[in-house]
Amino acid sequence: MDTQDYITLERQYLARMYKPLSIVLNRGEGIWLWDTEGKKYMDFLGAYSAVSFGHLNKRIRKALIDQLDVLDVPSRAFHTDRLGEFGKALCEFTGLDMVQPMNSGAEAVETGIKAARRWGHDVKKIPDGKQRIIASHGNFHGRTTTIIGFSSDADYRRGFGPFDGGFDLVPFGDADALEAAITPNTCAFITEPLQGEGGILMAPKGWLKRVQEICKKHNILLLLDEVQTGMGRTGKNFCFQHEIDRPDGLMLGKALGGGIYPVSAFVGTKEVMGVFDPGSHGSTFGGNPIAAAIGIEAINILKEDGLAARAAELGDHLQRRLKGLNSPLIKEVRGMGLLVGMEIHHEKATARQVCDKLLEKGLLSKDTHGTVVRFAPPLTIEKENLDWAVDTVAEALGEMV
Ligand SMILES: Cc1ncc(COP(=O)(O)O)c(C=O)c1O
Repeated sequence: MDTQDYITLERQYLARMYKPLSIVLNRGEGIWLWDTEGKKYMDFLGAYSAVSFGHLNKRIRKALIDQLDVLDVPSRAFHTDRLGEFGKALCEFTGLDMVQPMNSGAEAVETGIKAARRWGHDVKKIPDGKQRIIASHGNFHGRTTTIIGFSSDADYRRGFGPFDGGFDLVPFGDADALEAAITPNTCAFITEPLQGEGGILMAPKGWLKRVQEICKKHNILLLLDEVQTGMGRTGKNFCFQHEIDRPDGLMLGKALGGGIYPVSAFVGTKEVMGVFDPGSHGSTFGGNPIAAAIGIEAINILKEDGLAARAAELGDHLQRRLKGLNSPLIKEVRGMGLLVGMEIHHEKATARQVCDKLLEKGLLSKDTHGTVVRFAPPLTIEKENLDWAVDTVAEALGEMV
């Protein structure tokens, strides 16, 4: 089969909810990916921040294989010898108290929504069914019907209603608007600390600190979705650590599974997690021994290799160099750590055209929201490779003006 055959086969049998770039990958190692024609690419997308340790990271792979030698998925009908260890590692790492392991990011968010609503009812004494949650405009928290029910993006919602309601939106980064939107029935505010899918958008400095003060003052929970920004990506182990000690609840996913296996979690304070009782929530695969072994190793690598500090240093370098390109196509370069967005002047080119050009030159990235090229390379990338990527961006943009 050649490249076109693989693409045709996918197009025939897979529902069309993605618009992939036109290559067919069949091998990966570290920051590199290869297509079926043997061409080598640098992965500057990192599977949307999931591949933070590089493809087929040796330690993650070993954790998986070692665990496969002894026990796979017995379900949570029984205790296992890895789950408590995973819970402890994740709590110590996040500064929170208890964990509900799940599989996908969206499931971690759903878990947080359930926790917040039940907390609103059981602890805050809001009548059941009246609990409301405030979210940020431009949010992206996943694709379930509840979650898209509070998306402000019409494309995510069209034709999928009815939605169950119970959500109010405020502008991202506007603490005054949050405070004004709170009612006696509000049980939580859920937000990403930095909007990834929304176009690598950052809130004003001090916003999250104020948000926490407001949440405390009005007795509502602060839930942070760090599925994309967590695990070292923004230059701290968690993005919230740039401003606050800890939220009431935290959603994690993507890199928690080492880029190899789906592992997600909702992590919270004792008070929040205390609302769950047997039968109230669960997941057949969530927290299975393979997931636990990988999650533990992901945390170990992040700590031992100082990947958050590395992301901070390399991210600054990347932003500085991209800004220095002074390309007439670039409107803005922004981001934190190794999560960087390059906004393209929309009247000059689309972000997709830039991604296609970069692909031609062996650099993989992806557009978001039409105008932004998203860069999220593995945190293990070397500086010289980062420099090659910037040189490649310069060359590509140079050919496009
Ligand atoms: C902030 C955020 N939350 C949740 C999700 C959903 O994660 P998943 O695709 O694993 O369900 C994503 C995915 O991009 C995300 O960026």
